[in-house]
Amino acid sequence: MKITLFSSKPYDQQFFEEANTSFNNEIVFQEVALNENTAAMATGAKAICVFVNDQVNANVLQHLQGIGVQLVALRCAGYNNVDLKKAAACGIKIVRVPAYSPYAVAEHTIALILTLNRKTHRAYNRVKEGNFSLQGLLGFDLHGKTVGLIGLGEIGKVTAKILVGMGCKVQAYDPYITQESGVAGVTFIDLDTLYEGSDIISLHCPLTPETHHIINAESIAKMKKGVMLINTSRGATLETKAVIKALKTGKIKYLGLDVYEEEAELFFEDLSDKVIQDDVFMRLLSFNNVLITGHQAFFTAEAMKNIATTTLQNIHDFEQGQRLQNELLPT
Ligand SMILES: NC(=O)c1ccc[n+]([C@@H]2O[C@H](COP(=O)([O-])OP(=O)(O)OC[C@H]3O[C@@H](n4cnc5c(N)ncnc54)[C@H](O)[C@@H]3O)[C@@H](O)[C@H]2O)c1
Repeated sequence: MKITLFSSKPYDQQFFEEANTSFNNEIVFQEVALNENTAAMATGAKAICVFVNDQVNANVLQHLQGIGVQLVALRCAGYNNVDLKKAAACGIKIVRVPAYSPYAVAEHTIALILTLNRKTHRAYNRVKEGNFSLQGLLGFDLHGKTVGLIGLGEIGKVTAKILVGMGCKVQAYDPYITQESGVAGVTFIDLDTLYEGSDIISLHCPLTPETHHIINAESIAKMKKGVMLINTSRGATLETKAVIKALKTGKIKYLGLDVYEEEAELFFEDLSDKVIQDDVFMRLLSFNNVLITGHQAFFTAEAMKNIATTTLQNIHDFEQGQRLQNELLPT
């Protein structure tokens, strides 16, 4: 089958070409992101493959329908960028990769926590310059600290297990699962109790209307002074301006982000010789207690391999008229 793969990077091409040796599709790798202006590049393809910041909104879906695209295969788990109702109305099926490596994202979450706490990023630079002073590098024992996880799905559970292993007291808020299906050693609590009692709060829920700006001025006000906040889920779960205010007062003492509300304009590109126009993002970068990675939590060899194989299997199942076990349907 002919597939147009949008937002392609060299690493996508590498892993998809390797996986495609078992599927024999014709894959056209397009560097551009999918939007209303670029949808026509899929002409002639029955399926397209997209990533987190490609726009699969109503207008784009209308275009895709017009040029005969029948399947949109997401090479990611989150699908907040897709208008599922419109896709169904256009007769376009949507599939995704629900779980490719929860370990990749959970381990990156822990990397953010440990780096912010022990300031290894700053220590690395100091030592490189022959500065062996410890002033400003004071951390805390993670052992015994209370960590609140918002969302206890695939990634939240792996994160919880690692943290329990490190001797943390782990509490979770997830209104859609039961204590029994949780993780040994993790207590289920309501959101306000989580805000009030956690030394570290980490987000592992999807972006939905319910979780949009779930971290805002009101929720921050309920948190402990000096809290560490980590977000590897989706950028818009945080109201960034409220978070900046709280960083300025010291209410939030550490912030670790792998995602950002307006990341579509920035992430995955080399902008090092450009002037970045996003003042809110630049303000975040100016804090020495904020650590930002550019949506790389998923990026391990194991995850990339699973993403490519599952995506091509999803497309194969569609082509063969088989049941689409990873299909997304409107609610
Ligand atoms: N940074 C990255 O590279 C990266 C990679 C993969 C996934 N993600 C993000 O991580 C999110 C979680 O991934 P996952 O594989 O664990 O998904 P999942 O579907 O297995 O788990 C999500 C959990 O969140 C819970 N949830 C839903 N609404 C909630 C709410 N209002 N409050 C609290 N919990 C709620 C669900 O019940 C579920 O248990 C994804 O939706 C995606 O946005 C980020």
